[in-house]
Amino acid sequence: MNDNTLMEKIVSLCKRRGFIFPGSEIYGGFANSWDYGPVGVELKNNIKQLWWKRFVQSRQDMVGIDAALIMKPVVWQASGHLENFSDPLVECKHCHNRYRADQLDTTAPCKSCGKKEGFTEAKMFNLMFKTFIGPAEEQANIAYFRPETAQAMFVDFKNVLDTSRKTVPFGIGQIGKAFRNEITPGNFIFRTREFEQMEIEYFIPVPKKDEDWNKYFEDWRKQMLSWITDDLGINIKNIHELEVPDNERAHYSKRTIDFEYDFPFGKSELYGLAYRGDFDLSNHQKASGQSLEYTDPQTNEKYLPHVIEPTWGVDRSVLAVLCEFYREEEDRVVLALPPKLAPYKVAVFPLLKNKPELVARAKEIYDELRKSFTVAWDERGNVGKRYYSQDEIGTPFCVTVDFDSLEDGTVTVRNRDTKEQPRVEITDLVNYFKDKIR
Ligand code: GAP
Repeated sequence: MNDNTLMEKIVSLCKRRGFIFPGSEIYGGFANSWDYGPVGVELKNNIKQLWWKRFVQSRQDMVGIDAALIMKPVVWQASGHLENFSDPLVECKHCHNRYRADQLDTTAPCKSCGKKEGFTEAKMFNLMFKTFIGPAEEQANIAYFRPETAQAMFVDFKNVLDTSRKTVPFGIGQIGKAFRNEITPGNFIFRTREFEQMEIEYFIPVPKKDEDWNKYFEDWRKQMLSWITDDLGINIKNIHELEVPDNERAHYSKRTIDFEYDFPFGKSELYGLAYRGDFDLSNHQKASGQSLEYTDPQTNEKYLPHVIEPTWGVDRSVLAVLCEFYREEEDRVVLALPPKLAPYKVAVFPLLKNKPELVARAKEIYDELRKSFTVAWDERGNVGKRYYSQDEIGTPFCVTVDFDSLEDGTVTVRNRDTKEQPRVEITDLVNYFKDKIR
């Protein structure tokens, strides 16, 4: 299967099975806007919940926040985004289609109209989305949708410090939407104008030498790799680390590593890890006139902590997981998701839908299992078709209630990966699945 075909198949599966739909579709769609459907939102939430548990709730040195999407505009002045958060934009002289100059061969014909009339000079284009606060659409009321979740962690630094009793080193984590008016969105949910991030700003003492920040950087690098392999189950062979060269790093970064994934459309950035120094805290301190200094409780020394920033795209995590676990076998399509990521952990079927006693017993089991897991119900078609339908959305186990179940209190549990179908006591089902899903 070539890589374009694989991507088309994944997009088609997502639409057909309720993972991800084109946004505003009944109105002809809205370019590069995507909606997560019933199973997509479960997959995405599973990723976010695993992340929050691992990096915020399970660590003594972490707390979380959930900040406003639209912050006071001066935040973006202080952070450097108003001045620096731009991409070079060129326009085809024939059809006026716009492109990012750094991603375009300007000697080749325009990809949209095929003409070779050339492109305009590159102009810098700020990627922040503007809006107006209040009814008057005037300069003084302009505000911006946040282009990264990160800034709230700096702006709230003092409040978090004052209320959480954390001592440096410690981190603040956040999951939320970010908005960028990307010039060339595309590749399904890979690059969109509205997306979600999971970010951490990890505050460390002022380094006296490079090793002092590098040890935290290296630790986060290992944590990020472990998230990719242990939590998402992605094969490390499909991950590549890129040391971002000086001239390509974001304006705030002293060192950045990109973690790239082998997407079907090519090796591309999945996550990033950056050393931001004290760039943000010192700029916000200057612009706000408020001291953001930390006082060391032991030495009483006051200083602005430095920051290591690991950052994860939620939508790129979803896409990488879909690509990683999509399999075509002789007779079926399987999404071989790790059970903890699967939208439904179990599906329950009555063998025949026109036998009320089977339906009633299956419903009881369905209701009981739903107290512990996400569970699907299906009574359409034959059992074989129901298995294949669950395989496509990655459900690891299917329970079939048949006439023997009414006699001996057991059910057939079909395993997605091995296709084995042992009989399991109904009373043991919850423990059986808990054990397998762990
Ligand atoms: N606070 C640092 C920051 O925002 P970034 O590399 O610009 O760094 C972090 O973004 C992550 O957010 C990326 O690694 C990627 O996973 C995700 N991301 C960035 N732009 C995106 C877009 N247009 N669509 C989807 N995800 C995006």
